[in-house]
Amino acid sequence: MKRWAFVTGADRGVGFSLVKGLLERGYDVFAGQYAAAGDELERLEENSGGRLRRVPLDIGDGDSVSQALKSVAAVTDRLDILINNGAILGDMQATIEDELDYEELDKVFRVNALGALRMSNGLIGPILRSGSKLIVNISSEAGSIGSCWRTGWYAYCMSKAALNMQSHLIHNQIAPQGGKVMVLHPGHVQTYMQGKLDTEGKLTPDESAGHILALVDKRLDPGYTGEGFTLIDYEGNTLPW
Ligand SMILES: NC(=O)c1ccc[n+]([C@@H]2O[C@H](COP(=O)([O-])OP(=O)(O)OC[C@H]3O[C@@H](n4cnc5c(N)ncnc54)[C@H](OP(=O)(O)O)[C@@H]3O)[C@@H](O)[C@H]2O)c1
Repeated sequence: MKRWAFVTGADRGVGFSLVKGLLERGYDVFAGQYAAAGDELERLEENSGGRLRRVPLDIGDGDSVSQALKSVAAVTDRLDILINNGAILGDMQATIEDELDYEELDKVFRVNALGALRMSNGLIGPILRSGSKLIVNISSEAGSIGSCWRTGWYAYCMSKAALNMQSHLIHNQIAPQGGKVMVLHPGHVQTYMQGKLDTEGKLTPDESAGHILALVDKRLDPGYTGEGFTLIDYEGNTLPW
């Protein structure tokens, strides 16, 4: 039987590498494409033997999400894994003593927190009908209130903290039905999230995705014995909420 996965923000970075890794594991993959033309993603689709489907998707836009959900429904009524990966950073400088950009804060929340919620909400039926029933929310150490050290990054940190709470609420609802939620920090990764390649990152996108998918494999192992529902990093270490 086919196994299906959906990755948001799959144009590049960790999302693109997650798509590659899922294809290697035999999944049929929907890749949410935000940018107009993702050459690499297009090439990957061409070479996937029909197992990769690019889906135009702005998770911050209700109509775009509805269209993407229709694309899924047209081919499958089950979705084994949803990976909510797409996100934006927002301002990293302003502190409480500066003028904060509320329009930008609004946008980052709409994408990072509400975007993931829209996707999980819209796909919960197919997810719970599937074999794996797994939602993976890519969060960040920046969303951990317990280990907060920053004085800025308001939009990003607050939106990821909201994503963490959202993950817990979903877990509470679907765990009794066999549903699974993972919420994790992918490591400091060399991506273009800051608008230019972050060469300080410790991991390449492929390395980060490799770690994440190894944790997914572990979570989906029938012999998995959970240690409670926690925020984890890419190595599986628990982080404070
Ligand atoms: N890089 C790190 O060190 C790091 C650390 C902690 C957590 N994370 C998390 O890891 C995940 C992946 O980030 P990344 O580092 O791979 O950054 P990235 O390369 O910027 O990837 C983010 C992806 O999301 C897409 N995206 C932006 N706005 C979107 C929208 N409205 N709807 C759908 N997709 C949208 C981006 O498209 P465009 O490229 O076209 O803008 C891009 O493909 C994010 O959730 C991020 O918060 C990253």
